[in-house]
Amino acid sequence: MSDPPGRDAPTPEQLIDWDVAHFWHSFTQMHEYEPLVIAAAEGCELIGADGRRFLDGASSMWCNVHGHAHPAINQAISEQLARGAHITSLGMGCDTTVRLAKRLVGIAPAGLDRVLFSSDGSSAIEVALKTAFQYWQQCPEPRPAKTRFLAFGAAYHGDTIGAASVGGIDKFHALFKPLLFDAVYAPGPDRHKLPAGVAPEAACDYYLGETERLLAERADEVAAVVIEPLVQCAAGMVMHPPGFLGGLRKLCDRYNVLLILDEVAVGFGKTGRMFACEHDGVSPDFLCLGKGLTGGYLPMATTLTRTKIYNAFLGDAASGRALYHGHTFCGNPASAAAALASLDLFESEQTLAGLEPKIARLGERFCRLAEHPAVTNARQTGIIAAADYVAEHQVGRKVAAYALEHGLWIRPQPGMVYVMPPLAISLEEIDRMMDVIEAGIVEVTGIAIK
Ligand SMILES: Cc1ncc(COP(=O)(O)O)c(C=O)c1O
Repeated sequence: MSDPPGRDAPTPEQLIDWDVAHFWHSFTQMHEYEPLVIAAAEGCELIGADGRRFLDGASSMWCNVHGHAHPAINQAISEQLARGAHITSLGMGCDTTVRLAKRLVGIAPAGLDRVLFSSDGSSAIEVALKTAFQYWQQCPEPRPAKTRFLAFGAAYHGDTIGAASVGGIDKFHALFKPLLFDAVYAPGPDRHKLPAGVAPEAACDYYLGETERLLAERADEVAAVVIEPLVQCAAGMVMHPPGFLGGLRKLCDRYNVLLILDEVAVGFGKTGRMFACEHDGVSPDFLCLGKGLTGGYLPMATTLTRTKIYNAFLGDAASGRALYHGHTFCGNPASAAAALASLDLFESEQTLAGLEPKIARLGERFCRLAEHPAVTNARQTGIIAAADYVAEHQVGRKVAAYALEHGLWIRPQPGMVYVMPPLAISLEEIDRMMDVIEAGIVEVTGIAIK
């Protein structure tokens, strides 16, 4: 942990006053905001300005992988800062970022050998959408009518205008409809909430059938399908039937549409494999990564794609074929250094192998939670686990408030509880986290677990 603040540092009370007075927090109804100022973080804990400690049950918005303030990542960032904090990626590149591009290609699914850098997940999606669109305009057999995208259910791919256009969460995006482009939507492949008459074992075929119906009608205008594989996180930890992703890849090939996988949230081990698409052996045409890319330390995102796509953008300067999209800080070397250090840790700490008992423990604890009468649809993929509340809409918020009082930070959700801790969480911390959640549910509902 860093040294304590100096004598002139503001008091915790002052920080709270300034926070309320000036800091407009994202995705937060400021009218109801209960100030929480974090002064430090170490391991899997956040440390409040007032010294309270909270387990980071949502890995600082699905980012943190190896724990906070890991000396290896901190050192890699410091060393890079000593060599230069920022070097542009426009028309040149820094050695650290070059090394990261090579490293990412080495771990990505086969065929993804070109790496576009950006600064956040939404931008990685924008890059994929625009590149797919432009590809069909200038590929060897152009299909200029392919200008639309097919997305799924309550998808969330970010808040910029393009990313929001392929989003399906009305609460976030409906107001902006006049600014967004039209997308085609297939039902979100939720394996727990099936339409009446669809048996669980038929779920995969059902959702693939619905998707195929749309592609059969509209493939001529669809440039790409975009989906978060295995788990649609912001949609409410919607988990897909096994095999859906593999079937979707086949449909994309059959109907000549590109496949964009958004692994901004589920990438870097959250599903138990480095990338979620590995579970079905799928290689997409675009793989969007963010959040955990730098171990969750610094902003960076990437869009990986194939040489087939890249080649369609080649030509002389006057051809106008280049991709005119980029961000000032894309490929930032300090972020790249963090990402390389994080990938080193995946190897040296055997992060994915070490995850297996943690996934098992989390599963056991969610099975137990499922026995609570107020809870339904307990579900898990990797280190992501969620359950819905049967009845009262505000239970989730109250349980999150209880958790905060008892040393656990989870993101308040009205109708559900979920956790997505850092991969570095220990078995003891998983138990501590789940003990608090269980006690919170019992306290808020007034009903004991059997
Ligand atoms: C699946 C997914 N895609 C894209 C984004 C957008 O990423 P960012 O917030 O870094 O722009 C998010 C953010 O939560 C996400 O969960």
